[in-house]
Amino acid sequence: MKYSDETKFKRIVIVAYRLPFKLVKKKSGFQAIQNSGGLVSAILSLAEKKDKTSKIVWVGTGEEELGNKDTHPDFDLYPVTIPSAINDKYYGGFCNETIWPLFHYFPSRTVFEPSYFEAYNNANTLFFQKLKDIIEPGDFIWVHDYQLFLLPEMIRKAFPSAQIGFFLHIPFPSFELFRLLPTKWREQILSGMTGADTIGFHTNDYTQHFIKSVKRTLGYKVERNYIMIDDRLCKADTFPIGIDYDKFHNACVTKKTINCKNKLRSHIGNNKLVFSIDRLDYSKGFLYRLKAYERFLEKYPEWHYKVIFNMIVIPSRDNIYGYRKIKKEIEATVGRINGRYNNLSWIPITYQYKSIPFNELVAIYNMSDVGLITPVRDGMNLVAKEYIACQKEHYGMLILSEMAGAASELSEAIIISPTDADEIADSLNRALTMPEEEKEIKVQKMQNRLSRYNVFTWTKDFFNQVQEVKREQDSLQSKYMDATIMSQLKEEYKKTDRHLLMFDYDGTLTPIANTPEMAVLSETIRDALKKIISDKNNVVVIISGRNKEFLDKQFNGLNAILVAEHGYYIKYPDREWNTTVSIDLSWKSKVLPLMDDYVDKCSGSVIEEKQASLAWHYRNAEDEIISLRINDLRNSLSSILKSEDKLQIMEGDKVLEIKSMLYDKGTIAATLLRNGSYDFVLAAGDDRTDEDLFRALPENGITIKVGAKPTNARFNIRDQRQIAGILNLFVNE
Ligand code: UDP
Ligand code: G6P
Repeated sequence: MKYSDETKFKRIVIVAYRLPFKLVKKKSGFQAIQNSGGLVSAILSLAEKKDKTSKIVWVGTGEEELGNKDTHPDFDLYPVTIPSAINDKYYGGFCNETIWPLFHYFPSRTVFEPSYFEAYNNANTLFFQKLKDIIEPGDFIWVHDYQLFLLPEMIRKAFPSAQIGFFLHIPFPSFELFRLLPTKWREQILSGMTGADTIGFHTNDYTQHFIKSVKRTLGYKVERNYIMIDDRLCKADTFPIGIDYDKFHNACVTKKTINCKNKLRSHIGNNKLVFSIDRLDYSKGFLYRLKAYERFLEKYPEWHYKVIFNMIVIPSRDNIYGYRKIKKEIEATVGRINGRYNNLSWIPITYQYKSIPFNELVAIYNMSDVGLITPVRDGMNLVAKEYIACQKEHYGMLILSEMAGAASELSEAIIISPTDADEIADSLNRALTMPEEEKEIKVQKMQNRLSRYNVFTWTKDFFNQVQEVKREQDSLQSKYMDATIMSQLKEEYKKTDRHLLMFDYDGTLTPIANTPEMAVLSETIRDALKKIISDKNNVVVIISGRNKEFLDKQFNGLNAILVAEHGYYIKYPDREWNTTVSIDLSWKSKVLPLMDDYVDKCSGSVIEEKQASLAWHYRNAEDEIISLRINDLRNSLSSILKSEDKLQIMEGDKVLEIKSMLYDKGTIAATLLRNGSYDFVLAAGDDRTDEDLFRALPENGITIKVGAKPTNARFNIRDQRQIAGILNLFVNE
């Protein structure tokens, strides 16, 4: 299926730092030449797709003349101009001396300069100013990469209902690295990104790093990768970028490519060909690679006079000192190795510092026996994928760094550590001697994957996700309790006589606190409850997972029905606590030691032992450790639970609880409903356990979920602070 079948966008507005072309002066006038890099290659494939239904607009820096519509019939280009005084500190500074090194795990190369961040802000604003006159209703605005982190939020503020996507083409680093940025920058970057509806990353690791940074920096709640931002949802997800597989695969046999291949063959003779192609960048691991090749020549002298390493470096960012320095070092190292081994009949390394036209690139990919792609850190690395796509008839082998995002999809390649010269040397020998059939099987497996998940499926996937997020947002939006619904509710309440009002405790009547003891009832809520209860037509129920002692203390002096431990205990006003079911609790002594083990493994987590259940609270433990351990715990528990009758694992907000399935908040609500005749029933709660409660209510019951979360409740309120407003509806003046 083509991505265009799925999209309903009128236009796709791509915003990236660069337009896809630069103008180069030729005798015949100016010619548009493709800019280098993975972002341009991938997005350009989409823009050039002939059967697209959405119009494509591209906004980015570039020469004014590129805005001339005749230059590119396939799409409209809108150049953004950034004065060089800003651009030097924005592009040269914050983008490429702060974000790029930090996000590629080079903290020592990272410059923390406030004027760079100021320029970054200014440049993002210039992009916004251009964009605001271009955006039309129905557009999908797709912002790309680290140069434009602040833009989604700027767009969101001016166009609240705009459809915005953001895709990061580089790694998102672990929180430990990200937190090296000053707090203000961190906050602005993350709230800038979360202005989008969907935020995409190449690998699941990057997505998880981002989510952790959002939680730790902005304090937002995240569930199933949905980030709850006050009254809005956005989603972070993984979309490994693909290539236009057919374009590369089919180009291997075109006339132009065959000409290039013939030329190349006449240069290399019978030598085996090893190649690498990368933009000039310290993240690409050039020096380690050259040293590893030298190690290969030392260790395997039988390959002398039989192999040539063709190392192509695409010019990039050479106005930045660090890049010029690495270029010099590459050239010195190539010179030294060639000086050590070459003679009139053999040069072990051919080095080129230039861009390569498409057919020449395909010819090199197609003819090379080995692709040696060894970045020390790379968001994805499209060259690795393009190389595999160009294997036809005769198969080469890919040696790929485990530090490239592409490594998780290209597992049949020889995966190496980019700093291990010996491992790379041995891998070169292995790749050069690998039997043809073995290469064929491996390459074909990778080709199948790459041809199925290509750049068009990648986009389709992203667009589908954007639309799904939009649907979730819309359904949430239509469920928010606004002033009209509130006044209808008040009317309904006034018209009726017997009212059953049920409230969960934590997260509903009180905000979630770091420790359970800190979550106490405020005077405002207590007063409101008191007034409501004083009306004899009202029955108020506090229905909580807490133990009975805690509820007694909090609701002392209030004539509410108290339900503790998710429905195991009930206490009517002026009566004693009673259990609602009779169950065997001997399982607790078997489960407790096992859970204790996890408290030791996950520091910060605690066990709450209740009368009828055991709850493992992990709010104060490290997210990573919990996600590592929680599945083990679930597995170990489920084998114990199998031998016990009617026990269940119940998961709530940062808590995993074992209890009998003979009761829950729903069963107790059903009992209360049966025992009284009510013509107005309301239940409010924030957690997954409250969904049981909502389900027990009659169809005309009023169910309210606290927070921007997907739910079966009829209504959502944005946050816990709004609960006072709901209670006030039932206070008779
Ligand atoms: N490429 C290019 N100019 C060239 C040779 C190659 O633009 O002269 C393309 C190459 O085909 C690939 C991209 O540059 O699509 C490099 O992307 P990659 O993801 O490997 O690295 P990045 O440049 O994004 O760091
Ligand atoms: C990578 C980045 C792109 C960038 C490209 C070329 O692919 O992800 O955002 O455009 O490198 O770098 P340059 O600085 O020349 O734009």
